Amino acid sequence: MARRTGGAEALVVIVISALLAATAASEAYTEMIECGNSVNDRMIMPVRREVYDEGRIYDISHRITREMPSWESTEGLGNFLWLAGSMKNGSLYNGSEMKLSTHTGTHVDAPGHVFDHYYDAGFDVDTLDLGVLNGPALLVDVPRDKNLTAEVMKSLHIPRGVKRVLFRTLNTDRGLMYKTAFDASYTGFTRDGARWLVDNTDIKLVGLDYLSVATYDDLIPSHLEFLESREIILVEGLKLDEVLAGLYTVHCLPLRLLGSDGSPIRCILIK
Ligand SMILES: *[C@@H]1O[C@H](CO)[C@@H](O)[C@H](O)[C@H]1NC(C)=O
Ligand SMILES: *[C@@H]1O[C@H](CO)[C@@H](O)[C@H](O)[C@H]1NC(C)=O
Ligand SMILES: *[C@@H]1O[C@H](CO)[C@@H](O)[C@H](O)[C@H]1NC(C)=O
Repeated sequence: MARRTGGAEALVVIVISALLAATAASEAYTEMIECGNSVNDRMIMPVRREVYDEGRIYDISHRITREMPSWESTEGLGNFLWLAGSMKNGSLYNGSEMKLSTHTGTHVDAPGHVFDHYYDAGFDVDTLDLGVLNGPALLVDVPRDKNLTAEVMKSLHIPRGVKRVLFRTLNTDRGLMYKTAFDASYTGFTRDGARWLVDNTDIKLVGLDYLSVATYDDLIPSHLEFLESREIILVEGLKLDEVLAGLYTVHCLPLRLLGSDGSPIRCILIK
């Protein structure tokens, strides 16, 4: 009995040490690989930033990703980018193609978006005034419990002369631009809020923090109020988290898409 136990114990010891040796060897090997990779990665790892130049420049555009929300979709944007030619498949270079709605992510609306005769007349994103899209801008927080009605707009006391306003709403607190499923309960301008802004302020650039500046219920009526004069430019889907409210210089540059009613846009705030 004793010998058999001893034999069994010896066997267990042998098996365990064999396992330990194997594990140690494979750990060492894995470590070597990981170490090599992490050194390499550390050397060539790209840096993705929201803020540049020690807090002087804020990127207020959302990164375009498959998971980002897309108008009225529960699935998000999906696959918008693919390699048409790839080095791994023998091409001399990696070259991608993309397919996107012109109203994807942080984007701008042209008057032709909601007025068919403006569309036909050519009021596309290429005709938008870069003088309006670039200049001093106010970032304001609005009440979180209401949409942007005439009453709310009035209560904000935005002085005459202010030409560009970015409205931070409950949408930012709710992180709606980071949720894949489209959410129709977002905060935006009601029709009377849009009309009030047109009639009582000098605002020509209206920025908001979800896919539309207008509430879902007043979608088209609000857009019509804003875009009829062709003087107001709407920037939608802005990324306004972690920027303090206040006065900045905004720079927004749409793509020169001839004939397009919208364009993805890169917007930055400079202190
Ligand atoms: C080229 O594309 C491949 C995918 O086919 C990717 O793995 C690789 O990192 C790319 N190379 C460069 C230089 O971007
Ligand atoms: C490379 O080519 C193969 C075979 O045609 C294809 O299955 C694969 O998806 C291609 N990979 C890329 C990155 O284009
Ligand atoms: C704004 O209006 C939408 C409907 O378009 C509604 O679902 C939402 O609750 C309203 N938001 C607030 C804060 O009242």
